[in-house]
Amino acid sequence: MIPFLDLRLATEELRPEIDRALARVMTSGCYILGAEVEAFENEFAAYCGARHCVGVASGLDALTLLLRGLGIGEGDEVIVPSNTYIATWLAVSAVGARVVPVEPDAATYNLDPPRVEDAMGPRTRAIVAVHLYGQTAALGALGEIARRRGVMLVADAAQAHGVDLGGVPSAFSFYPTKNLGALGDGGAVVTDDAALAGRIRALGNYGSRKKHLNEMRGVNSRLDPLQAAVLREKLLHLDAWNRRRRQIAALYLEQLDGIPDLVLPRVAEGCSTVWHAFAIRHPRRDWLARQLGLEEIGTMIHYPVPPHLSQAYRDAGYRRGSFPIAERIAAEELSLPLHPHLTVEQVEEIVGSLCLAACVPMEDVA
Ligand SMILES: Cc1ncc(COP(=O)(O)O)c(C=O)c1O
Repeated sequence: MIPFLDLRLATEELRPEIDRALARVMTSGCYILGAEVEAFENEFAAYCGARHCVGVASGLDALTLLLRGLGIGEGDEVIVPSNTYIATWLAVSAVGARVVPVEPDAATYNLDPPRVEDAMGPRTRAIVAVHLYGQTAALGALGEIARRRGVMLVADAAQAHGVDLGGVPSAFSFYPTKNLGALGDGGAVVTDDAALAGRIRALGNYGSRKKHLNEMRGVNSRLDPLQAAVLREKLLHLDAWNRRRRQIAALYLEQLDGIPDLVLPRVAEGCSTVWHAFAIRHPRRDWLARQLGLEEIGTMIHYPVPPHLSQAYRDAGYRRGSFPIAERIAAEELSLPLHPHLTVEQVEEIVGSLCLAACVPMEDVA
């Protein structure tokens, strides 16, 4: 049996360190913010090569507070990928702005710069580039468009801990399944801009920089010190874990090459990836997933319902066919198990089962 992901494995690898980290917080008596959160923020900023990191309660909050911190709100339009996880859209909606979905490059699944420029209008204030599946979006080309058109570029880096952020203000999630995952919810914004970091920090703390002085109508969204303590321990292993992900991805790429109708992930020139997901595409995706399931091999779909077809956006005027690339990805994408604790034998088993299933002729598929 090969589950898609077993969250206990990373915890067990670092169990003594994590136990000590949790005990450290318990004995400190400091259960909101404090030294542990501050230490993680400094360590994660340094790891990302950025000046500031502000811990918050989740990846969705990191995106929302980043947009609010940039002053984006009612009457503004924000460009988002049509094929992202819905949280990217929800953050834009949460600040009162309008999402302007743009179709991705069908090979990399990331924003396609010429389409982004075509979608811009007088109300466009920002572009949210998503580093989907762990691969950096085309930050160079998007940054150039953003500068030329006078709009802001930010990144949803929820799936991309360890990539080069290119100096772009970036929102992270520490949801347990992420490359750097907590033992619960968590998130952070990373930026070089001290004033922006200060605004986000205040917004996440009731709009207050100083106790009882509330400058803005903020929210309560802070990184929990218990999670910060766990993340500090895991951060020490992130590079090694990402290296292991690269090795496994290289194995998949080599061994799955040449299977008819199977589309393998492609890393674009000038981009890099930390392989949060190994996303393949196949016209008989559901059948393949079922066959792998019969062999007790877990897979996932990222994501079966594109945001524009979700109930949440039913009043936005989209229909089936509004974003055909996103819809095709939703219909054909399948993520194979890929995590640092997967063994070579398991990869070979997955490859073997997938090859067998993919080679069954169409007419034999019920
Ligand atoms: C691309 C993307 N954006 C945003 C989020 C939201 O993060 P969180 O679940 O921590 O709110 C996630 C993960 O869930 C994600 O994958």
